[in-house]
Amino acid sequence: MEQPPVTMNRIPILDLGPEMNQLKPQLMRAVEDVLDTGTFIMGEQVKQFEREAAEYLGVEHAVALNSGTDALVLALLSSGIGPGDEVITTPFTFFATAEAISQVGAVPVFADVEATTFNLDLDQAAELVTAKTKAIIPVHLFGHPVDMDGVLELADRHGLYVAEDTAQAFGAEYKGRRAGTIGDFGCFSFFPSKNLGAFGDGGMITTNNAVFAERAAMLRTHGSKKKYMNELVGFNSRLDELQAAMLRVKLPYIDQWNEGRRAAADRYRALLGGAQGIVLPAEADYAGHVYHQFTIRVLDGRRDELKAKLEGKGISTMVYYPVPVHRLPVYRYLGFSLPVSERLASEVLSIPIGPMIDPAVQELVADSIIEALR
Ligand SMILES: Cc1ncc(COP(=O)(O)O)c(C=O)c1O
Repeated sequence: MEQPPVTMNRIPILDLGPEMNQLKPQLMRAVEDVLDTGTFIMGEQVKQFEREAAEYLGVEHAVALNSGTDALVLALLSSGIGPGDEVITTPFTFFATAEAISQVGAVPVFADVEATTFNLDLDQAAELVTAKTKAIIPVHLFGHPVDMDGVLELADRHGLYVAEDTAQAFGAEYKGRRAGTIGDFGCFSFFPSKNLGAFGDGGMITTNNAVFAERAAMLRTHGSKKKYMNELVGFNSRLDELQAAMLRVKLPYIDQWNEGRRAAADRYRALLGGAQGIVLPAEADYAGHVYHQFTIRVLDGRRDELKAKLEGKGISTMVYYPVPVHRLPVYRYLGFSLPVSERLASEVLSIPIGPMIDPAVQELVADSIIEALR
C-alpha cells in the first residue's frame, strides 16, 4: 500500500480542533466556575442545561443522563417495557440501540432499512408487528431524520411507544420540528464526537409526558425522588456538573455548527456529483439533515479498495457499520436475513466532515476519491 508522504498532516474523519480553539477560554471558565461551587453532581449546571436543551429543542422535559445508551434503556423502562415484549428497530445502527432492548429483557426485532436514507423501512416494520410488540425505536442515522409521520401512523395503529434514537441528530429537523421531540421519547448522546459533544460520556431523554419524565429522573438516581427514599430499582446514570457546564457553553453554537456541516455536504455534492462508482447520501424532502456523517456508497465491490487508497493518501475514513446488528455474534441466533442492510455494510464509507472543515481539504478528499475509482 502507498504510504502517506511524511510531511503531510493526516486528514482526520472529524477534527474537533477548530471548535476547541473557538471556545477554549469559555470552556475553561465554565470548568473553573464548577470547581468554585464545589458541587459536582446534580447541581445548577445540570438543571440549567436541561432547561436550555428543552427550550432549544422545543420539548417539555429533558432529563440529563450519563450516556445515550442509558437514555435508551431508561426510556424503555419508563414506558414499562420488559421481559416478554418485542421492540422493532433497525439493524443498521450502533449496537447500543439493540443492546438497550435486550438490557430491559425485551427482544429486538429487526426491520431492514431503505437503501437511500439508511433509515428504517416502515413497510417492513409494519409487517413485523405482533401481539408482543410494544415499541419502535427509529434511529435518525448519520443525522438524517426518519419519516416520523410514517412512524407515528404505525405506532398509533398498534398502540406502540416510540423512542427516537437521536444520538446522531441533535438539531436535525423533521417538517419543522426537532428530531427527538416527536415520539414519546428522544434519546440523545453527548459522546465527544457527536454534533453536540461533551468532554466525556453524556446523554439525555426528552419527552412531552410528565409521568415519563418523572420516572426517567427517578431511574437516573437509584429510583428515588427524595434522597434515601427509593421507590424503584434504578441506576446511577447522572450527567455530572462539569459536563453539563461545558455542554451549556457549546449549545448556543449548535445551529451554526450544523449549518457548517450542511454547507460542507453541499460542497461534497458539487465536487462529487459527477463521480462514477459512488452514490451520494440522500436527503429526503422532509429532512433537515445535520450530517453527523457524510456517508457515500461505493459500488462494484470497491469500497475496501477505495478506503485503502485514501488511507495511503493520509485521508481517514470510517465504515459505519461493517456488520449489521442482526449479524453480530450476539444476535445471530435470532436468524434475521436483511439484504439491504447487509449490502450497505459492504458499500458504505463515511468521509471527513465537520462544522469547520476546510473546503480545500474537501477538494483534496473528492479529487482523491475520483482518482482512486478511475
Ligand atoms: C445511533 C446510536 N445510538 C446510541 C448510541 C449510544 O450512545 P452513547 O455512546 O452515548 O452511550 C450511539 C453513540 O455512540 C449511537 O450512535
